[in-house]
Amino acid sequence: MSFTAIILAAGKGTRMKSALPKPLHRVGGHAMLAWSIDAARAAGADRIVTVLSPGSDDIQSWLDGAPFAIQQDQLGTGDAVAAARDAAGDEEGVAIVMFADTPLVSAASLKRLAEGVEAGAGIVIAGFEPDNPAGYGRLVQEKDGRVSRIVEDRDASAGEREIGLCNGGIMAVRRESLFGWLDRVTNDNAKGEYYLTDIVALANEDGVPVIHVVVGEHDVMGINDRADLARAEAALQGRLRQAAMEAGITLIAPETVFLSADAVIERDVIIEPHVVIGAGCHIGEGTIIHAFSHLEGARLGACCVIGPYARLRPGTDAGDGVKIGNFVEVKKSRLGEGAKANHLTYVGDAEVGAEANIGAGTITCNYDGFGKYRTLIGEGAFIGSNSSLVAPVSIGAGAIIGAGSTITEDVGDNAIAVARADTREQPAAAGKFRDKRRAGKDRKG
Ligand code: UD1
Ligand code: MG
Repeated sequence: MSFTAIILAAGKGTRMKSALPKPLHRVGGHAMLAWSIDAARAAGADRIVTVLSPGSDDIQSWLDGAPFAIQQDQLGTGDAVAAARDAAGDEEGVAIVMFADTPLVSAASLKRLAEGVEAGAGIVIAGFEPDNPAGYGRLVQEKDGRVSRIVEDRDASAGEREIGLCNGGIMAVRRESLFGWLDRVTNDNAKGEYYLTDIVALANEDGVPVIHVVVGEHDVMGINDRADLARAEAALQGRLRQAAMEAGITLIAPETVFLSADAVIERDVIIEPHVVIGAGCHIGEGTIIHAFSHLEGARLGACCVIGPYARLRPGTDAGDGVKIGNFVEVKKSRLGEGAKANHLTYVGDAEVGAEANIGAGTITCNYDGFGKYRTLIGEGAFIGSNSSLVAPVSIGAGAIIGAGSTITEDVGDNAIAVARADTREQPAAAGKFRDKRRAGKDRKG
């Protein structure tokens, strides 16, 4: 099935109190508008038109060439849909009107709406029964269940306000009738706006049937402020955690783990409490992520051991069996199979060979204040603790770097390099030193 999606995003979103337009605020790591677009696409939309207000440059550049229409003045949802007329076209088919601030809408619900129109309804409304219906449009039904009109909360009589069945905002409409009905909508109501919802009564006037389907509350959960945003995030995280566990991943304390929606996590991964899996991660089978680790843009092979307290930044690419331990930060680096960096280390812009061992406190000095440089560490190399590898630099396969070295030159395969001051021992000097100090002499005396 295919349909045209019209996504309304021209509202002001003032309650977000933000310099960022509301549709670009993120849930599960994705802009809210991306969620609406993805749901539409997954449900079969072949054309998606986003309706924007003038001056919405941020959203336009985010859309990156995808179709949009401009609503000149914010005169209501009906006026907003009408603005999409040229971009959407009025050939036969189905149009679904969606909002850019309902990120949890599911493709399955959109499909059910479109199917209703294909089956002969003129309009199919996404209805829901919220605990508190105040503020929502109410569905006024005939005895046979058909919807005769939608009355907005502000325009409703006391009796109509008793109706629990509300308009979720999303509706599928027979496309060839949509814009004709919108032409007939007036702004004679409490808000002085052109309501999209008024097309329901107009369809009835034309003898065209209007029905509703009941969708889940999350499908139509609108985001108006930051508290709503947090509620949507909580609902989405609940879904993502559940899906992860169903896919064979252990989450020891699921409520403390945050998952980006695009995370690919293979089975038998164990994720300990208080872990954040940010955007762009792929975690291989059997890997363990210990507590308090933060991952973003990281690709991990099978059976890796990460953390506790590891920070993996974008471009981390670890082979099977890699160990990245506590207080280790990795960025833009590839670590070959079985490589280890177990404690207190920074690996940035590096290529680390298989089975290499990077000792505690090692730093790849990748930045001189101007440019970034690469460090190459060969297979099976052993980097002694507290070494500084000043990039660009290359350590050969099997080489050993003495602890505490500052390496500024390339080191050959299987070489031992030590770059630190020799130990100078003064026999029995400690006793003499203490005696002097106790006698009250200063350091020169
Ligand atoms: C709307 C519905 C109401 C429903 C509720 C569900 C109408 C008239 N009312 O009310 O029946 O219960 O959603 O949440 O449709 N927008 C524009 N241009 C405008 C006005 C709005 O693009 O001129 C966009 C907004 O950005 C938003 C969406 O349309 O994404 C809905 O607008 P909003 O003002 O939130 O409508 P509600 O009053 O909540
Ligand atoms: Mg609203």
